[in-house]
Amino acid sequence: MGNPKVSVVITGFEARHYDELLDFLTLFYYGKFIRKLMYEETKVSYGDKVVELGVGNGRNAILLSDRVGNEGEIVGFDISPDMLKRAREKTRKYVNIKILKHDIREEFPSKFYDYFDVALISFAFHGFEPEDKEKIFENVRKILKNGGRFYILDYNQIELANAPRWFKILIDRFECPLAEDFLRYDLIAKAKKFGFKLTKKKTYFKDTIQYSEFTLRK
Ligand SMILES: C[S@@+](CC[C@H](N)C(=O)[O-])C[C@H]1O[C@@H](n2cnc3c(N)ncnc32)[C@H](O)[C@@H]1O
Repeated sequence: MGNPKVSVVITGFEARHYDELLDFLTLFYYGKFIRKLMYEETKVSYGDKVVELGVGNGRNAILLSDRVGNEGEIVGFDISPDMLKRAREKTRKYVNIKILKHDIREEFPSKFYDYFDVALISFAFHGFEPEDKEKIFENVRKILKNGGRFYILDYNQIELANAPRWFKILIDRFECPLAEDFLRYDLIAKAKKFGFKLTKKKTYFKDTIQYSEFTLRK
């Protein structure tokens, strides 16, 4: 089912207060959770170039900024003017973070081909139509170096009927219809078509959320 009014492009009040809303809705647990993922579960080295697709207001980018240091770089792409504005305000003092406007379904500028060591997409991938998901895999394949890692933080592939009640309510009432489709999406097989092999997967919150690492072989 899902809520047809909900879209993965976040604007207005929600964009301006995205972090606060997420913290509030998760009883202030989200901050701790995402810090652990960015610090402990994301393989990033000093000097790495990292790209975040659908960077939102830059929370993940800021967490990764110290890890890549001044030799490294973090580039965040988004299309929501409100999210871009907020991300630019929040990351202004981080010299190694760049926030750029770009629709991630479209090819990236060729100067980014084979440029990044790590790519990340967090709570955005589920919201794209199947053909757009394929475009995103293809676009990421072009901008990642051979051996680069692609991290997907999103809903996990689970049977909704067996999921906890709070998760069913989230998917049915508050998420876009594509979120429910994503629970049945064959992520590993689709990723493989574009040269990405699953190299690590962790699940959280009774298996409802996954953090999957794919490694690219070109
Ligand atoms: C749910 S938010 C997640 C933000 C951030 N990744 C995080 O985890 O905090 C999804 C983000 O993807 C962006 N987005 C949606 N469609 C996009 C597209 N086609 N190209 C670029 N960004 C997009 C939205 O504007 C929004 O900022």
